[in-house]
Amino acid sequence: MKEDIYILAIESSCDETAAAVVKNGREVLSNVIFSQIELHRQYGGVVPEIASRKHIEKINQVIEEALEQACMTLQDVTAIAVTYGPGLVGALLVGVSAAKAISFATGIPLVGVHHIEGHISANYIENKELEPPFLCLVVSGGHTHLVVVKDYGTYEIVGRTRDDAAGEAFDKVARALGLGYPGGPRIDQLSKEGNARAIPFPRAKVEESAYDFSFSGLKSAVLNYLNSCEMKGVEVKRADVAASFQQAVIDVLVGHALEAAENYGYDKFAIAGGVASNSSLRTAFAEECRQRKIRFYYPSAVYCTDNAAMIGAAGYYEYQKGIRSGLDLNAVPNLKLGER
Ligand code: KG4
Ligand code: ZN
Repeated sequence: MKEDIYILAIESSCDETAAAVVKNGREVLSNVIFSQIELHRQYGGVVPEIASRKHIEKINQVIEEALEQACMTLQDVTAIAVTYGPGLVGALLVGVSAAKAISFATGIPLVGVHHIEGHISANYIENKELEPPFLCLVVSGGHTHLVVVKDYGTYEIVGRTRDDAAGEAFDKVARALGLGYPGGPRIDQLSKEGNARAIPFPRAKVEESAYDFSFSGLKSAVLNYLNSCEMKGVEVKRADVAASFQQAVIDVLVGHALEAAENYGYDKFAIAGGVASNSSLRTAFAEECRQRKIRFYYPSAVYCTDNAAMIGAAGYYEYQKGIRSGLDLNAVPNLKLGER
């Protein structure tokens, strides 16, 4: 009988201090997340210095809780997986240092994990039958990538944003609408009361690259619209602006992603990252995939935004491939997907 593999996973790349225990890559035994959102809200975005300091305060507690909830001690852990990039360097360093310290003190093997690989692997947790190859759209606060998942840990990026990430656009437009931080969930909610066809915001195409994205023009169009309303003394229907903006993002994401799925010949498609928890985006993909006879996968909201369970899932497959990190593992803020 095959021995069970228990991964203790740690994630601290941005503003969530998180630890989890994952069994055999797909079974989450605990998933503890300390969110710093309240702390950063008053500044309208993540303040790196504050994030690092809070990670330091919380990391040990979060790791202890993850083990406790899984009814385990460090002796039961097979390997430690930790996000080492991309992300905020000071924030990443806290998780990496904690993971290295535990590995050094106990001799438990260490596996460095790419944050985006984590987001993609979140899909394995609840979709037990999902296996590569498939196409995945990663849409988060820092990334918008269209990725061919060729095998576990083997990726090819076929499309990416040329400027803002999708989540970044949500956050900036929400700020302009006075909705606060983080903007994605607020726009998601407000859009339900608005008319998505009220304002014809642009759907950008990137010359010579069918699967690349650009959101800065859309963001500027929303800001210009708001300014011109103000100058003309016209009342802004915020719900209509939110819904029309969101629809423009969705149209581009769905259009590019499913065109790529068809052209590359994939009948399995997944979404990942914070923006993947957007309710209208999920509905739009579900409907389009149904029409095109493509199987559609998505993680629950808790596994879309930053968490450590997804790092445990990715770490398991890296561990199984024999990948080990040394105690010289460092934080790499601009780590590329597929690089080590
Ligand atoms: O994956 P994530 O937690 O962190 C990064 O790795 O960046 O993504 C955070 C991003 C934020 O920009 C947030 O506004 C966006 O995901 N987001 C959403 C929703 N929930 C979170 N965007 C649209 N709709 C949502 N429901
Ligand atoms: Zn993330």
